[in-house]
Amino acid sequence: MKYRNFGKLGIQASAFGLGCMRFNGDAKGDSTIDEEKAISLIRRAIDGGVTYLDTAYVYLDRTSEIVLGKALRDGYRDKVYIATKMPRGRVHNRQDMEELLAEELEKLQTDHIDFYLMHGIDKEGWEYFKSIGAPEFFDEMKKAGKIRYKCFSFHGSYEDFEEIIQAYDWDMVQLQYNFMDVDNQAGTKGLELCGKLGIPVVIMEGLLGGRLANAPDNVQALYDAFPVKRSAVEWAFRWLCNHPEIATVLSGCNEVEQIEDNLRIFDTVEPGIMTPEELKLMDDVRQAYISRTAIGCTGCRYCMPCPGGVNIPGIFSTWNNVSLYGIDPKKDWQLRTIIQKEETADKCLECGACEAACPQHLQIIDGLKEAWKALT
Ligand SMILES: NC(=O)c1ccc[n+]([C@@H]2O[C@H](COP(=O)([O-])OP(=O)(O)OC[C@H]3O[C@@H](n4cnc5c(N)ncnc54)[C@H](OP(=O)(O)O)[C@@H]3O)[C@@H](O)[C@H]2O)c1
Ligand code: SF4
Ligand code: SF4
Repeated sequence: MKYRNFGKLGIQASAFGLGCMRFNGDAKGDSTIDEEKAISLIRRAIDGGVTYLDTAYVYLDRTSEIVLGKALRDGYRDKVYIATKMPRGRVHNRQDMEELLAEELEKLQTDHIDFYLMHGIDKEGWEYFKSIGAPEFFDEMKKAGKIRYKCFSFHGSYEDFEEIIQAYDWDMVQLQYNFMDVDNQAGTKGLELCGKLGIPVVIMEGLLGGRLANAPDNVQALYDAFPVKRSAVEWAFRWLCNHPEIATVLSGCNEVEQIEDNLRIFDTVEPGIMTPEELKLMDDVRQAYISRTAIGCTGCRYCMPCPGGVNIPGIFSTWNNVSLYGIDPKKDWQLRTIIQKEETADKCLECGACEAACPQHLQIIDGLKEAWKALT
């Protein structure tokens, strides 16, 4: 296992951090977690050199922290850093924050949390956390030794990120990043800004939740033609670890084979390890994925709301995901939500209002028909 620097913090942790969000194979699923299997996966990862574990209050119907707490008995707690998170939906004032942190400490069976994150914020989330006094609460808890580092995980635009990262004395940030997300969310610009500020970055969704693990034919052909043979997973992690700003890459493994594979991969990766030919390969791979885009919807939402109740950007983004990454639509949580909320394409009244509003001049009515055929 390689160990990497955490910017200004002056500590190191394992290049591979275990994400504790997916033990039952479904990040948005119920709490039917196989506890015995999850504990054995966590301990195997730590025995293999993993020193960073990421969970959250809400993961796996609030059972992830409990299972992690159990796994870290018998001396395992002292070997690792724990990261967990404060969810916005659960806290409305100082008392809620105190009670939530106390509950998390109890579930995790520890007297302190190493990395404590405001969970999944964008500009609106940051404004909310400020309005309830969360930054002051984090300061006090750090002084009291209940948390070691003040952090946030982010899902928003680069502009929001630039503002939030400079608005508070953050110790670490967790970003969604992978070779497909260079211009998405905080993106490469956000990563480089953290590097300049000395703020370490922990990566989530390095495999886009597993979507980059199984390359479609046109991408696999590029990997196969390259003189050095590596799996799609290894290429994706290697590309991430090439970036010196990145401290730890999280991956949520469901099977011991995935843990073993990741332990092997993260034993070989260093900042600056990619050759120019390898970087070119990954640029070609990105373009090969992009060439599979089903429709050029940017998600701007100018077409919304739709009088028929159709979730136009949601349906197009699902269609693109299915087309780009070859995933089974039945397993797509976004599609499940669209169906549950009855925002389906068959509700289109063909009024044409969306097409008049779309800055990309998309043929939305026909596009929806085609998308729905492909998705259902
Ligand atoms: N704070 C936030 O807002 C937030 C959001 C997302 C994630 N996170 C955290 O970040 C962690 C990592 O994100 P992630 O779970 O989405 O990571 P990820 O690495 O993008 O995806 C994990 C999935 O990749 C596949 N995988 C992993 N290693 C593999 C291997 N060696 N070979 C083949 N497939 C492999 C598995 O997919 P299959 O299950 O399909 O086999 C696994 O479930 C999460 O566990 C969570 O702790 C935080
Ligand atoms: S054409 Fe269909 S999808 Fe577009 S706004 Fe009208 S009802 Fe909604
Ligand atoms: S207006 Fe066009 S590009 Fe924007 S979300 Fe709607 S369909 Fe997509």
